Amino acid sequence: MKFGQHEPAHHTLIHISDTHLLAGDRLLGGEYDTRANLRAMLDRIQRVEGASALVITGDLTELGEPDAYRALKDMVEPVAERMGIPIMWIAGNHDERPEMRRDLLGEDYSQKAIRHAFDLDGLRLIALDSTVPGWHHGRIDDEQLDWLRDKLNKPAPRGTILALHHPPLPSHVPMFDILELQNQTAFAEAIEGSDVRAILAGHLHYSMSGSFAGVPTFVAAASCYTMDVARPSRQINGMDAGQSFHLVHVYDDQVTSTVVPVAAADPAEFFTPAWYQRLEAMTPEERLDFFSRKRA
Ligand SMILES: [Fe+2]
Ligand SMILES: [Fe+2]
Repeated sequence: MKFGQHEPAHHTLIHISDTHLLAGDRLLGGEYDTRANLRAMLDRIQRVEGASALVITGDLTELGEPDAYRALKDMVEPVAERMGIPIMWIAGNHDERPEMRRDLLGEDYSQKAIRHAFDLDGLRLIALDSTVPGWHHGRIDDEQLDWLRDKLNKPAPRGTILALHHPPLPSHVPMFDILELQNQTAFAEAIEGSDVRAILAGHLHYSMSGSFAGVPTFVAAASCYTMDVARPSRQINGMDAGQSFHLVHVYDDQVTSTVVPVAAADPAEFFTPAWYQRLEAMTPEERLDFFSRKRA
């Protein structure tokens, strides 16, 4: 149902990133309880209505430990099952391809890039592997670029969303561009003129948006800790605050990404189901008068 100019979104993706789980109950960097923080995020996510898929853009684990993948699976899969949505797992530089394949995805134990294409009622989701085994910077290898070009040759009915760990965007935080996606020109050439409608990424541990080869590009912050980018440039560090996930709404002619804080507070109860019902029963003129007119 619409009350404005736009038809409702036909797909809603939940986009989270950088869970950095460790085996056992170790704290990340001796400070961050990555499991408790992920649990708090999943509690919020469970309230989201009408989601189509859960996309997790990499750095799923800190060290690629088998037990960390199993713990992640045990935490996230029941939530997705209850919501009736598929999970799209993306590899990040902290992941290890063989363990991620075997212990999370149930695939063969190998260094092959983790790339997949999914059809979600006409919307194509493509997972790319931008990791370079043994390194933290990113690169999409030639085999994947060929595969991507081949896939994109045939447009999907509702277009394509790409997901990868390393964002193809500049980073304003000094030195962190050392860990960027290296072959961005080749990547841009591979998607130019295609039906790619948005790119989802992680890696930065802060929420950011930009445009790459004319395509809106959204970076979700991390569930483990976030970077305090308000500090002076050479003092930027992680903090156990500001965690958030994104809701990516896909419309016929537009893609938006909404940042949802994982706040400890519960909101007020002003807009109740009864309030919505009352508005729904009005004529468009009554609704505009009731909700839009300023009253002294
Ligand atoms: Fe990360
Ligand atoms: Fe990363």
